[in-house]
Amino acid sequence: MNKKIKKILKKKKKSKIVCLTAYSKKIASILDKYCDLVLVGDSLGSVLYNYKSTKEVTLETMINHSKSVRLGVQNSIMIVDMPYNTYRTPKEALKNVKLVMKETRCDGVKLEGGKKIIPIVKNLVKNKIPVMGHVGILPQTDKKFFFKGKQQKESERILNDTALLEKAGVFSIVLECIETKLSKQITEKIKIPTIGIGSSSNCDGQVLVIDDLIGMSESKFKFVKKYADVSKVIDTAVKKYKAEVQKKQFPKAKHSFKN
Ligand code: KIV
Repeated sequence: MNKKIKKILKKKKKSKIVCLTAYSKKIASILDKYCDLVLVGDSLGSVLYNYKSTKEVTLETMINHSKSVRLGVQNSIMIVDMPYNTYRTPKEALKNVKLVMKETRCDGVKLEGGKKIIPIVKNLVKNKIPVMGHVGILPQTDKKFFFKGKQQKESERILNDTALLEKAGVFSIVLECIETKLSKQITEKIKIPTIGIGSSSNCDGQVLVIDDLIGMSESKFKFVKKYADVSKVIDTAVKKYKAEVQKKQFPKAKHSFKN
């Protein structure tokens, strides 16, 4: 097993796992200093391309952004989201995952789903590909984004899905918007780490979309915390640049070439 993945597994019940998304090199290189895991999430569809859903994200887009992220990630585990409709059968998944792994040199991939994707996960694991699971809200297929675990039946299904995914060989599972007590129950029941987003501090680790964290998105989700206002920093810089260009204060002689 990949050494970095072993390290993540060992963190369970010892120290919290820190994870964020990245879509390009510079940000990835900053995250690499602090994160155990950097995820090239298909959330890039809404964050960067204004798509209505992640369904529109293509394999080519994921590969291109992942190549850029790879340039910034040296120490963290780099995981790439497999986009919608690229892992419908074990054969299709293996072909596309192999391409992603080869082109991006990532450490593993993330797939959304529970019971339905078990044969797909098993086949990837059999081929020595590290797989991360993702249950709770499934942005690729859910029509409504309500938190999960309100009803007993739904909770039982999710609990069962996480057990099946663990048995199929995933090294970790993202829990997206799962009710607090259910997150605790899942995290206590399975031996692999759970990484929560909107799923309380009961998870073994946390993940957020980087643009939400630094104030570069319009996201108003309850589970998001804005740690910085980078939009404001850019706004101030660009405003100043405009004023200096218009007043002929920029460029100065030191910014210009002379024979
Ligand atoms: O696409 C994504 O960014 C994700 C995380 C939010 C877990 O799947």
